[in-house]
Amino acid sequence: HMAEKGGYKHFMLKEIFEQPRAVRDTLAGRLREEEGDVYLEDLHLSDEQLQGIDRVTIIACGTSWHAALVGKFLIEEHCRVPVEVDIASEFRYRNPVIDEKSLVMLISQSGETADTLAAMREAKRRGAKCVAICNVVDSSIAREADGVVYTHAGPEIGVASTKAFVTQLIALYLFTIRLGRSRGMMTVDAGRALIAAVVRVPALMEEALKLNEQVEKLARNYLQARDFLYLGRGMNYPIALEGALKLKEISYIHAEGYPAGEMKHGPIALIDEHMPVVVLVPQGANYEKVFSNMEEVIARGGRVIAVCSQGDSEVASKAEVALEIPTDGEEVAPIILSIPMQLLAYHVAVLKGTDVDQPRNLAKSVTVE
Ligand code: AGP
Repeated sequence: HMAEKGGYKHFMLKEIFEQPRAVRDTLAGRLREEEGDVYLEDLHLSDEQLQGIDRVTIIACGTSWHAALVGKFLIEEHCRVPVEVDIASEFRYRNPVIDEKSLVMLISQSGETADTLAAMREAKRRGAKCVAICNVVDSSIAREADGVVYTHAGPEIGVASTKAFVTQLIALYLFTIRLGRSRGMMTVDAGRALIAAVVRVPALMEEALKLNEQVEKLARNYLQARDFLYLGRGMNYPIALEGALKLKEISYIHAEGYPAGEMKHGPIALIDEHMPVVVLVPQGANYEKVFSNMEEVIARGGRVIAVCSQGDSEVASKAEVALEIPTDGEEVAPIILSIPMQLLAYHVAVLKGTDVDQPRNLAKSVTVE
């Protein structure tokens, strides 16, 4: 079985290391650098249709829902359209405010998740235009949607999603550029700048993947932990949720992701010398705020695993461990931060001896309710 795993011990690790390639494939042929725009071959929505919408609702489950939360941030920031994010199993049993002027986006790696498919049918019934971000060509969700932005991650075998997630994020950056440009909310220069940022992603990922050995070594210090807390702010908050989900799924250690600013409203009570706290504190908009949240954790004895920008000696001197990611990319930080999250969950799980590619109780795609 080593051969089909490309020499890696698990599909999950192979898929983690495939991510720069998966991102390149998802970008291939779609960038219109000159115009500061992108071409999404299966979107099937004209500029007029994109101009006609007054809200976006993004619906998904699990990891795909975490991508959706990053999408809200991107679309609101760059397109100034209100975005709501919903979990598919909640959306379909509510009475959502959706009509012909709504754009509903479904995110699903498999394109077969029962709740997401049912949510799309409900949205269509109410007259919304539906766009899917899918990895599996001709899957049910991709077939029934009005338009699709395919991720080109390739088949994902590991039950814990990795390369599908980061390519969903790439698809969301691309969609944001298209929506922003078509609605006149994004200038040519702003479009070019965001394209330049996504083009740098594969190289930044290669750099971040060099953390593998460091993470493997430090993982053994956390095997006894019963709970983990993950903290992030802004568009990195969903990455805290995703880091916690990865750890839960494959290592069976309880973990929670929290917006760092919410910590003092409850979870801070959990912090003691037994509690590892992963703090996402790269340079950028919320740096000072997250830094002080990190200090609050340290003051209560929490064991901080900080993920920070390369050369951040201030963070490195305070945290128990500092995982340094390339500095060159605040715009795409959620993507780069995902790598140490995946590696940490992976190595903790391997050391605990769990079945990493086939964790207990989980199915790759949940096709029943
Ligand atoms: C991810 O690691 C999970 N196994 C799970 O949360 C998954 O993302 C969710 O079931 C949604 O799947 P989909 O993207 O195929 O719809």
